Amino acid sequence: MLSAEENTRLTSVMPGTPMGELMRRYWHPIAAAAELDERPTKEVRLLGEDLVLYKDRSGTIGLIDRLCAHRRVNLAYGIPEEHGLRCMYHGWLYDETGQCIEQPFEETVHPPRVSRPGTQPGSSEVVVKSFKEKVKLAAYPVEELGGLVFAYLGAAPVPLLPHWEQLVWDNAVREVCISHLPCNWLQCQENSLDPVHNEWLHGYMGNVVRSGVHALSPGRGTHQKIGFDIFEHGIIKRRVEEGFTEQDDDWREGHPVMFPNILLVGSEVHSTLQFRVPIDDENTLHVSYYVWRPAPGTSAPVQDAVPYRYVPPKDETGRYIVDILFNQDYMAWVTQGPVARRDLEKLGESDKGIIFFRKMLRDQMAIVADGGDPMNTFRDPATNTSVRLPIEHVKFGDRVRDAYSLVEAGEAPVAALVDETLATWQGRRSERATAGERHS
Ligand code: FES
Ligand SMILES: [Fe+2]
Repeated sequence: MLSAEENTRLTSVMPGTPMGELMRRYWHPIAAAAELDERPTKEVRLLGEDLVLYKDRSGTIGLIDRLCAHRRVNLAYGIPEEHGLRCMYHGWLYDETGQCIEQPFEETVHPPRVSRPGTQPGSSEVVVKSFKEKVKLAAYPVEELGGLVFAYLGAAPVPLLPHWEQLVWDNAVREVCISHLPCNWLQCQENSLDPVHNEWLHGYMGNVVRSGVHALSPGRGTHQKIGFDIFEHGIIKRRVEEGFTEQDDDWREGHPVMFPNILLVGSEVHSTLQFRVPIDDENTLHVSYYVWRPAPGTSAPVQDAVPYRYVPPKDETGRYIVDILFNQDYMAWVTQGPVARRDLEKLGESDKGIIFFRKMLRDQMAIVADGGDPMNTFRDPATNTSVRLPIEHVKFGDRVRDAYSLVEAGEAPVAALVDETLATWQGRRSERATAGERHS
């Protein structure tokens, strides 16, 4: 149990808070790159800051204050020009550094630059800054990688955007699923340090809601043992379920929870990166990044763009969807409340991963407060070409084992996985299926 103050310290990401400062030291995905090809501006709220993401006609992507410096209208309705975003109200133009570079009426009335005699020794004149030069909006670095647009809101020097291998594999098919969840980011991430929920939320409840059967589903037996180890990029999560041993991949390899807000699940065949991006203290942008790899020696279909879809967590009646596996997680996280009351919880043995993670968060906040670089700060391009992550080759001994062994044999099922992705992309899946996400 934490005090209410400690809970706030671990969850609040607003500017100036310890966790806000830590979370600003990471690049966060804020959009699918393809979104900007369909509509070149997008309202973004990230770490409590209201911004607009845009792509100008030369292809430059910018992330600047959402409100125009002049009379504060929403620049998401602005017009992308060859270079920069023009406010639709009176035509001021901003570049990707936030600098105002045109003020049409002001420049008609006043020449853009005014000189006057200077007072500095050796200088005959000083150029007085024009009005537009004095106008600069906040602006943040953005980078496109693997079909996602990432932003960095933290202190300089700006670290490298981590090239997790799934983002840069060159022979793969990808899809992006995005959900807006009305809860604090830490609830989503703590779920990744909680292996036992898999057995109950997905196994037991999943069976009841889908088929009314009060039994754990095959392959999701009771947990016998859970373990957590620190590794270079975060925590390795391990489990032994009934019927398996420590020799199985779920214990021996485990899978990684990357610090501070990413999970990797799946296998080398089909994996999912999940980013829990703090919109503010009470909202999270959940970005799932699905990757399918073809069988060795074969080529994945070429995608012109990585497809994306927005996945609502609720059905048309306003109730959280619970008959699709991944939505079960959404329901659990959001129903803990906008910010879970950790001062009221009662933790047990099943929560030791969560306790471990909270300590890690405190340690990393202290590193930032001392002026250091927190875990997963990449500054050397040589170590950031394709960051390898540990993952199970065989998961729960079921379908992924089959898929993987067939991939090793160079047989067909991975092509079927690829087909499934493309079918989703082309909207051929049933509406019901597209209401939720797949999850390994
Ligand atoms: S409000 Fe943007 S130019 Fe006037
Ligand atoms: Fe889950």
